[in-house]
Amino acid sequence: MQVREPIGDDPGAMVRRDRRPGRDLCEIGDLSLAEACEVLASAARMVPIVEGRGPRQLETLRGAQVLSVFNEPSTRTRLSFEVAARRLGAEMVRFVADGASSASKGETEVDSLLNLDAMGFDVVIVRDRRDGVPRAWTELLRARIVNAGDGTGEHPTQALLDALTILEAFGRAPGPGALAGLTIAVCGDVRHGRVAHSGLKLFGALGARCVVAGPGDLAPPELAARLGASCAPSLDAALAGADVAMMLRIQRERLAPGLALPDAASYHAAWGLTPARLGLLAKDAIVMHPGPINRGVELADAVADGPQSRILRQVTLGVAVRMAVLARACGADLP
Ligand code: CP
Repeated sequence: MQVREPIGDDPGAMVRRDRRPGRDLCEIGDLSLAEACEVLASAARMVPIVEGRGPRQLETLRGAQVLSVFNEPSTRTRLSFEVAARRLGAEMVRFVADGASSASKGETEVDSLLNLDAMGFDVVIVRDRRDGVPRAWTELLRARIVNAGDGTGEHPTQALLDALTILEAFGRAPGPGALAGLTIAVCGDVRHGRVAHSGLKLFGALGARCVVAGPGDLAPPELAARLGASCAPSLDAALAGADVAMMLRIQRERLAPGLALPDAASYHAAWGLTPARLGLLAKDAIVMHPGPINRGVELADAVADGPQSRILRQVTLGVAVRMAVLARACGADLP
């Protein structure tokens, strides 16, 4: 049986035909609305386990092997996938193409990946600086691929955990129209923010009204329209009456060289969520941020640590979401 077949005219480009059971998750659009709601409902059922109020571990993925390949820094996503895998009984192994690996002896990335895949992993969790890497790996590897953030592309599990945070905060159950009547303001570097790219699509699909704002050309109207959002001319305009303020970090590592941005204090004055600006939001509004936060830049300390902040709740719910995503990726029934 031929398992790798040429793509197009390029004899070097091969696509696998013998994928492992389960499902890839490269972009949020890989999930239908019904599937996204199933994942969210499963994640909601996992919350007691994450909080230590239920069984410490499930048998759902007993014996499954998960590989993480993070070619870009991460704290929340990498560690929460590891915790999620353990909670489901799976084992997780990390690969880093550093001086301790055979990458240092000239092995190419593709050869390293094919060798790792030959060890029989069920799922590969990938974060990479380059847009589109997770999708490309679906054509290279038997293992199912889960995107943990690709360049300026997407971050689908962050979108799911953000949606679950909003649903929980407003007492809604996952389903079509679950976010109807809510306005979500996403503010900051929308252009380079893969969190926003996945999140806005999901929030809109769940019925939310979405608005974006950012400095310079970091939240352009054409991008907002592509993501199903409207574009506000200022932070204050975006926040006015919003139920959710989702603040984004400026992705300095992705900005074009020489692009001028205000210093931290000036940025905070114009684009930071301050206690005074909380007054613009709807009553009972919540504040979110995917992390890592830059205190005193996009968020004041008093806002990050205040009663409206759901920032640490996002992290807790992130473990629950990643449990559901890993189960789906392995082809298991959602717990
Ligand atoms: N939100 C998020 O992706 O955080 P990390 O970069 O720490 O994984």
